[in-house]
Amino acid sequence: MSGLASRLADRMARHGPLPFEAFVEAALYDETDGFYALTGGAGRRGDFLTSPEVGPLFGAVVARALDQWWTQLGRPDPFVVVEAGAGPATLARSVLAAQPACAPALRYVLVERSAAQRARHADGLPLAPADQAFAASVEPGDEDEGEVPPSPAGIGPLVVSLPELPAVRFTGVVIANELLDNLPFGLLVQDGGWRAAFVDVGPDGEFTEILLPPTAALPPGLPAAPLGARVPVQRDAMAWLGAALDLVERGRVVVIDYASDTTAMSRRPWREWLRTYRGHERGEHPLRAPGTQDITCEVALDQLARVCEPDTIRTQAQFLRLHGLDELVDDGRRQWAERARVGDLDAIRARSRVTEAEALTDPAGLGAFLVAEWVVSA
Ligand SMILES: C[S@@+](CC[C@H](N)C(=O)[O-])C[C@H]1O[C@@H](n2cnc3c(N)ncnc32)[C@H](O)[C@@H]1O
Repeated sequence: MSGLASRLADRMARHGPLPFEAFVEAALYDETDGFYALTGGAGRRGDFLTSPEVGPLFGAVVARALDQWWTQLGRPDPFVVVEAGAGPATLARSVLAAQPACAPALRYVLVERSAAQRARHADGLPLAPADQAFAASVEPGDEDEGEVPPSPAGIGPLVVSLPELPAVRFTGVVIANELLDNLPFGLLVQDGGWRAAFVDVGPDGEFTEILLPPTAALPPGLPAAPLGARVPVQRDAMAWLGAALDLVERGRVVVIDYASDTTAMSRRPWREWLRTYRGHERGEHPLRAPGTQDITCEVALDQLARVCEPDTIRTQAQFLRLHGLDELVDDGRRQWAERARVGDLDAIRARSRVTEAEALTDPAGLGAFLVAEWVVSA
């Protein structure tokens, strides 16, 4: 039994069965032995491939979207972009490499809970002290008015790295790619009434599921479902959305993830929407070997809508096309045609846009992810 498994077993022996979400919380985020404290993470050498890890095209399109949102907001400086659940900061690197027009105003705030992932943020990114991200900017010449100017306008892009969402409100964007599916969630099981899944440890040391009366109020609007049906309860995702919306004075919150809704999930096999991953393969049962595999759950958008209805929901393919994917791919094709004979890195990068676009818009894969946006006006 691993260190984490024996600590969890000990906790259950002393305090009784653990709610499923507490088990997931420990399996993913235990500070010494959780999946994200160890080597787990996104990337070609990691455990799963996310859109930013497919290549730089996703970030190039996000850079265009940021420019559009910045323009709609009246080109504020600073323009704060908080990327929550930033992993190793691959998206940030691609966004900055695309040189968006908003760069001189940009404060790019990487928020990542895992210390191991945060340690990778400095690779190729000059990190600034956190307080600089939220300092108001002033135009040269306006320095004498009011308090000492904290930072001049046009000094971006500044990149900072934080372990949690900032406490300061701002004008800009909170964006989260594949974060919410990774937040701990509870499970309800239809057993002649909705019961909550808890985890206990058997005499053989194996973790087993037991069903108990729910300790928190049931979410409203649970579907009528046959015996054995399961639904996730995504309280952490709902709390995260509330906190993100509270942070934005003007701007938007953008969530990109594999998503569904509670009723649809109650009708599907639960292991389809609750998945585990290890080394690019599907993992084991979620109660096996805690800390050694990722545990994720499709995001129930109807549960998020109880916090606030999103203004738009699009597929990732629609979102990327809306923000200029096809133009970037055509541009890549042209550059490849011109430079193929040179065969340099730029030519190869240009060509790879075609295959990246296919992966990012694949209706059976990343293209079917949903992009939900909440617009916050002053
Ligand atoms: C599936 S990974 C996605 C990484 C990256 N966004 C990408 O698309 O490649 C989810 C990341 O969210 C981080 N995370 C989980 N809970 C978090 C929280 N409450 N705040 C910030 N980061 C969190 C995890 O440590 C992990 O690195």
